[in-house]
Amino acid sequence: METPSPIRLRRLRSSPKIRAIVRETTLDPSRFLYPVFVRDGERVKEPIPSLPRVERISIDVLVGEIASMAEELGIAGLLLFGIPSKKDELGSEAYSRDGTVQRAVRALHENGYKGVIATDVCLCQYTSHGHCGVVRDGRVLNDETLDHLSRIALSHAEAGADVVAPSAMMDHQVSAIRRALDEEGFEETVIMSYSAKFASSLYGPFRNAAHSAPSFGDRTSYQIDPANGREAMREIELDIEEGADIVMVKPALLYLDVIKEARMRFGVPIAAYHVSGEYAMIKAAGRLGWLDDLWVEIEALTAMRRAGADIIITYSALEVAEVLGGRRR
Ligand code: PBG
Ligand code: ZN
Repeated sequence: METPSPIRLRRLRSSPKIRAIVRETTLDPSRFLYPVFVRDGERVKEPIPSLPRVERISIDVLVGEIASMAEELGIAGLLLFGIPSKKDELGSEAYSRDGTVQRAVRALHENGYKGVIATDVCLCQYTSHGHCGVVRDGRVLNDETLDHLSRIALSHAEAGADVVAPSAMMDHQVSAIRRALDEEGFEETVIMSYSAKFASSLYGPFRNAAHSAPSFGDRTSYQIDPANGREAMREIELDIEEGADIVMVKPALLYLDVIKEARMRFGVPIAAYHVSGEYAMIKAAGRLGWLDDLWVEIEALTAMRRAGADIIITYSALEVAEVLGGRRR
């Protein structure tokens, strides 16, 4: 018999303590942002059937329950989405000083919430047509939308948001928002741009939750074709040039190659958005008893970190943080 190689890879797998010191990727709630859907009313906790364990909540529930729970679990912060009670052609409710998101941000501060407060900056929940920009003659206009996005971002910064996250995929949205923020003295407000946002079919549950499905057409004239990885790099590169502090890849799980490539090319922090459809698929299979959804989630989030994501936006943040904190198993 030939002399066996001295290398035995199983040696480093032989016990939990050895496995722990050689683990290459860590999963920690201090990297998680938890998305929340905030609406008007009091004591509202409205379940969203396609997003198990996620609810539309009122501001009192947000500050009184969710924010404190997230803080206790060590979750980095919240990403706020507003569900407005009225919509119009231009989505003007989105930049109202007293809009739901603006009031929620103030309420979090008033209640001493210490985590990162990030807000989604877009028009689609607020427009009657459900598109992410200003619509004329059935087309989504780019430059006409920039002013609106800037006003929304500014109203969030004024309320006290730490991070504004433009998700409309309009060209030059980052530079427009950066300029507007700087002019008003908000040079410390961070921009986390949804830079590589694909025209994905995985946003379905989110659109149910936020009532934001487009009433005609789709978003393929502004979101990236899922076939285009190189184009995603151009989007990210441009956003960095325009002043984005953090860039995002969305969805995450089906686009791990994009996260990885961005990690290799750019030095900026990268956020991965584990979107509603990805979460819903895993949860649904779990409900059918086909797999252990919690552990699949943990594996999925680990894969995003392994690919190079610094920040993970996930609906499973609370659940996963509980497990990581050793509260369950
Ligand atoms: C809207 C927006 C979407 C998501 C976040 N912001 C969906 C869309 O483009 O319709 C998706 C999030 C998810 O699916 O979890 N600008
Ligand atoms: Zn949008």
